[in-house]
Amino acid sequence: MNCEKINRDFCRLHAVIILNSCIMKKTGYISICIITIGFLFASCEGPAGPSGADGTDGIDGKDANETCKLCHNNNVVLAKAFEYEYSLHYKGEAFEEGTRNACAPCHSHQGFLDVVTKNTPATITANPSDPTKFINNYVASSSVLALPGPINCFTCHSSLHKDYAATEFLPLTTTAAVPMTMWGGTKTINFTKSGGNLCARCHQPRPITAASGAMIDYSKLVSEPTATYNMSSISYRTGVHYGTHAAMASGVGGIEFGSGYTNSQHATKASCASCHMATPSGLAGGHSFSPAGNYSGCNTTNCHSGMNASNTTLTAARTYVTDKLKELVDKINALGNGHDILQKDPEDGLYHGYFDIYDSGSNRTGYWKNPSNGTPAFPALTNAQFGAILNYQLIVRDASTGVHNYPYIKTLLDNSLTAF
Ligand code: HEC
Ligand code: HEC
Ligand code: HEC
Ligand code: HEC
Ligand code: HEC
Repeated sequence: MNCEKINRDFCRLHAVIILNSCIMKKTGYISICIITIGFLFASCEGPAGPSGADGTDGIDGKDANETCKLCHNNNVVLAKAFEYEYSLHYKGEAFEEGTRNACAPCHSHQGFLDVVTKNTPATITANPSDPTKFINNYVASSSVLALPGPINCFTCHSSLHKDYAATEFLPLTTTAAVPMTMWGGTKTINFTKSGGNLCARCHQPRPITAASGAMIDYSKLVSEPTATYNMSSISYRTGVHYGTHAAMASGVGGIEFGSGYTNSQHATKASCASCHMATPSGLAGGHSFSPAGNYSGCNTTNCHSGMNASNTTLTAARTYVTDKLKELVDKINALGNGHDILQKDPEDGLYHGYFDIYDSGSNRTGYWKNPSNGTPAFPALTNAQFGAILNYQLIVRDASTGVHNYPYIKTLLDNSLTAF
């Protein structure tokens, strides 16, 4: 038995504990602390020698209130909180969807931290107790579903208030590559620039599943284009959900008919934060997350100069995407032989990618299958047509009209138009 080593380890341990507790305390304790540690080491080294002269007093410990002030002031917490109050993360009500385990990972503060901390996989796997059924594993624990909270500072900056140090805004809650839930984890979004993967965790599309819960085989939409689509039922809400931005911005996860897919410089040289959290101007930028009319993120060294609302690079891309989306939706709607396949929003007159199918809960005015107009059967679609509809949803809900990743979005549109 090595007594010396045990003594040394014992002493180190105590010194660490005492130091830690001293640092947490306020003024005055540091000197007592130093004396205690001195005593501990002395007691380890064998019989004490004659006392030395008193040391000089230690400097005062830092008052905890001082570190609070480094953040809790007008220029840091308050300034960002004002910006944040313009954000839909703050103003929106989508966090109330967080009472369901399939929704909470992206909709509530608690659900997001749950899947990040547990590293919940994005896989869809056979149900061990019923092999005919499949389980989407990307769900939040049931313990975090009651009274979900909105996305807030602590959602993205999960290190805050751990040690109350001024540097705790970083690291962000997660910067890891994001296995895509739409693809059961078989495709991954990975922004190399800081901040992108944090947003991509939530701003990614969701899977299309069959009644068994199994993910459909998206590859057949491309490889067997003329076969009748029968991998899932089709209802009002069938689709990739709303957060398609990270898929489009990274150029991963569209139904890739044909070839020629490339990415914009944005995919590697920018990240969500470059444009959505640029230096504030007007009511945009910073923690408002709004890029609307704010070109300060674009016009930076090694990126653009002279980018603005009337810059022809921007307007040409936007016009092209808007026109081709219109062409695509018209072609899709024509499959209904006189009645639209997709639903026209009664408020803005636009097609957001919902099917115009009757749903007793959420779409009582839907045309197809509506008992009040003779339940017309929804027309059979081919695999390619269904794939083109998914691409329409991916691009229209991306809402950047090409800005996120013009080359990828353009090819996805062009190839969807020629696929059927
Ligand atoms: C790294 C920066 C930082 C430090 C250091 C810091 N805070 Fe905070 N604190 C925040 C942020 C950010 C919020 C959330 C503000 C908001 O929601 O508008 C917050 C919120 C709070 C709140 C509101 C309740 C809550 O938890 O949301 C209290 C109380 C608080 N802090 C106290 C303190 C005290 C006391 C200290 C020092 C011991 C301290 N903070 C140190 C960043 C910091
Ligand atoms: C925890 C999940 C989550 C994270 C992380 C997240 N978002 Fe969001 N985001 C949402 C949800 C949910 C909404 C819709 C909020 C609502 O309507 O109540 C939203 C809304 C937005 C909007 C407004 C969209 C609109 O329709 O006007 C923007 C812009 C946005 N987020 C950008 C970002 C950026 C940039 C990041 C990363 C810095 C990010 N988000 C991180 C979930 C998230
Ligand atoms: C993979 C992340 C993710 C999951 C899982 C998810 N959502 Fe969302 N959802 C989002 C994002 C991101 C937005 C915001 C998109 C935007 O505003 O541009 C959103 C928006 C919404 C909206 C607002 C749509 C609108 O018209 O603006 C509703 C409602 C919604 N989700 C419901 C749900 C429900 C219900 C579930 C579970 C069955 C769910 N979501 C699961 C990411 C997700
Ligand atoms: C949706 C995610 C998200 C939310 C919510 C959020 N932030 Fe941030 N914040 C970020 C990102 C991303 C960055 C940029 C980090 C980087 O530069 O890598 C950032 C940067 C910061 C910084 C600068 C940190 C540094 O050292 O450069 C501060 C300060 C900050 N945020 C404060 C806040 C406060 C206060 C709140 C709440 C009112 C808040 N944030 C809410 C995502 C978020
Ligand atoms: C190159 C700059 C750029 C990058 C990079 C970028 N965005 Fe965008 N984003 C925009 C612009 C511009 C719009 C359109 C805003 C408008 O029309 O008002 C937009 C639109 C959006 C919207 C819809 C907002 C709305 O008002 O409906 C969301 C949500 C969004 N982006 C999230 C993201 C996320 C998440 C990322 C990273 C995965 C990202 N963006 C990367 C510039 C960018």
